[in-house]
Parts: sequence; structure tokens; C-alpha cells
Amino acid sequence: MKLPVYAYGTPELRKVTKDIESDYPDLEQLISDMFETMHSAEGVGLAAPQVGKLIRLFLVDARIYGEDYEDLKDFKKVFINARILEKWSDEVLETEGCLSIPKIHEDVYRSDSIRIKYMDEDFTEHEVVFEGMAARIIQHEYDHLGGILFTDKLSPLKRRLIRGKLKDISIGKVNVDYKMIFPKKK
Ligand code: NI
Repeated sequence: MKLPVYAYGTPELRKVTKDIESDYPDLEQLISDMFETMHSAEGVGLAAPQVGKLIRLFLVDARIYGEDYEDLKDFKKVFINARILEKWSDEVLETEGCLSIPKIHEDVYRSDSIRIKYMDEDFTEHEVVFEGMAARIIQHEYDHLGGILFTDKLSPLKRRLIRGKLKDISIGKVNVDYKMIFPKKK
């Protein structure tokens, strides 16, 4: 089942999320619904707060970029209770977008590689180093778990330039072909 995606301005997107246990109710269904939601909206990552769940869960599927980025060829994963343990390398600039912030794409600085500890959908623990685009996607989704959006990372000038667009999104004045919840829609 596709879930509505919470739009910029929704309070849930600003909350700090909580770890979950393996007996979290209907977790398997939630993960399956989140994948379906993300795929139908043509996203490569989705975090639980974006569908109104304040838990430390996000998922990624960037296999469509596998041709351009070798390391993304099998990059479909579920991250539960993830913690970034280390970040390395210079900050790298690359364009990002977000399903909660449709039609806005801006360059964001991220670390080029990270070491992260997480559990997969079977609650098996992993500790892995990710680099490049995979590291970027993970950092973007991980930020959602702490109520941080990619637009927060832009320069004050850039933020001012998109302020009007962000307001439009929060009141539903944006064309999207997936279902969204707008906090201030009249
Ligand atoms: Ni996002």
C-alpha cells in the first residue's frame, strides 16, 4: 500500500526519532509499504518520519543509478537503528532532492565516506563503510531521523532564495504525482 508522504512544514519531519525493537508492530508491512511508496514516487531513499513514523528506520534503493555508479548496482537496503560512527574525507558537493520537498534540487556538502552501524530488516547487525553516492544517500536519510532536511544545509542566502518555494510546498501549492500530506493546505 502506498503511503502519503509528509511535506515540508509538517511537524513530524522535525522530530527526533526513536530506536525500535524487533517486535515493532507490523514492521514488515511498513517496510514493504515504504518501498512501494518510494518506488512509485521515483525516490532513491525514504525515512520513516516522511510517512509520519517517528522511528529510526530508513530505506534506500538506488539501483537505477547502477550504470553510472558501480557501487549502487545492488544498493537496496533497510537501515534500522542506524548510527554513523565515523565520517571521512573532504566535503563533497552534489545535487540532492527529497520526496518531502518536491521540485527543489540544490547542491549539498556531504562527507565522501562514512562508517555506519545498523540492523537490516531481519535485525542482523552490520557495520559497513560506504563511499561516494551511497554514503551521500545514507547521510541524507540519516539526517531525517534527527529532524534535519537537506535544505537546512544550504547557505543562508540560498535558503532565502527558496523560502517562497518552501512555503508553497507547505500549503500544497506544488504539482506532484504521488500522494502527500501538506501541513498548511487550506
Ligand atoms: Ni529526504
